[in-house]
Amino acid sequence: MLPHINTRSACSSVSRVAFASLVAAVCVHVGCSVSPEIDARRCVVWGPGLSPDAVLPVRYFYIQSVDSEGHNLSASPAADSFRVKIWSLEKEFVRVHVPAPLDRGDGSLLVRYRLYGSSSKGLKIEVLYQDKPVADSPYTLQGPVYHESCVCPERDPSVWRSALQCPEDEPQIQQDFLSFPSIDLQRLLREVPERFSRRGGLLHYSLVNNQLHRRSLGKYTDFKMFSDEMLLSLARKVKLPDVEFYINVGDWPMENRKAGDEPGPLPIISWCGSTDTRDIILPTYDITHSSLEAMRGVTSDLLSVQGHTGPVWSDKTEKAFFRGRDSREERLRLVAMSKENPELLDAGITAYFFFRDREKDLGKAPLVGFFDFFKYKYQVNVDGTVAAYRFPYLMLGNSLVFKQDSPYYEHFYTHLKAGVHYIPVKRDLSDLLQKIRWAQKNDTQAEAIAKSGQSLVRDLLQPHRLYCYYYSVLQTYAARQSTRPAVHPDMELVPQPSDPSALCDCQRSSEELDPLQKNEL
Ligand SMILES: *[C@@H]1O[C@H](CO)[C@@H](O)[C@H](O)[C@H]1NC(C)=O
Ligand SMILES: *[C@@H]1O[C@H](CO)[C@@H](O)[C@H](O)[C@H]1NC(C)=O
Repeated sequence: MLPHINTRSACSSVSRVAFASLVAAVCVHVGCSVSPEIDARRCVVWGPGLSPDAVLPVRYFYIQSVDSEGHNLSASPAADSFRVKIWSLEKEFVRVHVPAPLDRGDGSLLVRYRLYGSSSKGLKIEVLYQDKPVADSPYTLQGPVYHESCVCPERDPSVWRSALQCPEDEPQIQQDFLSFPSIDLQRLLREVPERFSRRGGLLHYSLVNNQLHRRSLGKYTDFKMFSDEMLLSLARKVKLPDVEFYINVGDWPMENRKAGDEPGPLPIISWCGSTDTRDIILPTYDITHSSLEAMRGVTSDLLSVQGHTGPVWSDKTEKAFFRGRDSREERLRLVAMSKENPELLDAGITAYFFFRDREKDLGKAPLVGFFDFFKYKYQVNVDGTVAAYRFPYLMLGNSLVFKQDSPYYEHFYTHLKAGVHYIPVKRDLSDLLQKIRWAQKNDTQAEAIAKSGQSLVRDLLQPHRLYCYYYSVLQTYAARQSTRPAVHPDMELVPQPSDPSALCDCQRSSEELDPLQKNEL
């Protein structure tokens, strides 16, 4: 495969290595195996972490390593040969946590950093490959560079969206709102509690003047911490439209009326959609929360998983893998299939709750760390109570995902094509074994599908894109409100957390007023 081609071309170019002092070669294996020469200046560095205005809990950017002939490397350079230093330009010390770059296993690296305070002057980012500056390093991020917890919304949403390079439109959002050309808030106020509060997990929010207010309409609303934290984080960054809406924090989507029904469907916002319901969906609390808490407590998130995708394809075990709870009958079926076909499938239930009586036949498998899943070439994604929220992470690994057909979906599925980005399997799993055999026989195609899925999802599931998505849902919803949003007497203010150590000195509202001063400088 490609990595071998690169290795060979580097071996045959020993003379170039000898005369070009700028070019470095590192022996990674015994024998004649020299890693390809990286030309530091030709490497490509990009991503939102190079923009001061892309305020995120964890900022990040990418490095693609490029050889002296301008070819992208497709195998890992020794990750520790790239070093990144980030410091603030003022005298006062601002702590910046910069872990070692994550090796994405394909010649590219992911650099993450978390600020512990704001920097009014700005940041300097230095990227070095064996002490030589990479691409246009050093990079200067002109201050102010705000900390995640600064309440400093950009007044002009188009400026904010362009700093994050948000996509023009999201097909899922357009589709979700087809059922709701106009939203009458008075009607929702009368009908939503009556129809849905018994379901337990409903919250009623009003965002007015960028302040968040809410009331709970059910007994099981502890997960409001997840919707609160994201809505507050968004409101700190950008001026949101005034908007009043209902979020369902329970597992199942709720609204089963169809667009043409009389009375028509109500716009309920949920984390998971299904083909039988009309709920408007948001990125799940799982990927959202892990993006907010990455690098402080959470270990598996959309970024960290990219650096832990296991061995290279050819060194992975040629079997399908599954570990999980017993939340759906087909998961038990999968384990039974695995016992009969251990050469194709390694599946186990790690905890019993719904089907306790089956434990004595099927046994309980020990827990396996998520990153270890990627020691296997194939991953099986079987629904849990609704869509399995591990699917985004599985897609980010470099394994081939076998996805059970499902009526449930998350916000990004519409971009994925069966057979192109993953292998679809029937809901009853009856064609799974045959499809695993196909993959074993057609290794090149299997690897190509795994790669194309990974590459698409790496793009779609960047944490900053979650912010774009949340914003677009609120904005699309707001534009359809036929009556004015209001803060109701039984709502409580959800305050922004205070964080004095973030050194926030928001310049934004005054910035608009002093373009004259700037011109004089
Ligand atoms: C090399 O990688 C960069 C960064 O992903 C990409 O923009 C560029 O198109 C790639 N070049 C080639 C020739 O594939
Ligand atoms: C998969 O492999 C089989 C057996 O080697 C071969 O007959 C078939 O054409 C391959 N399928 C594809 C899509 O290449």
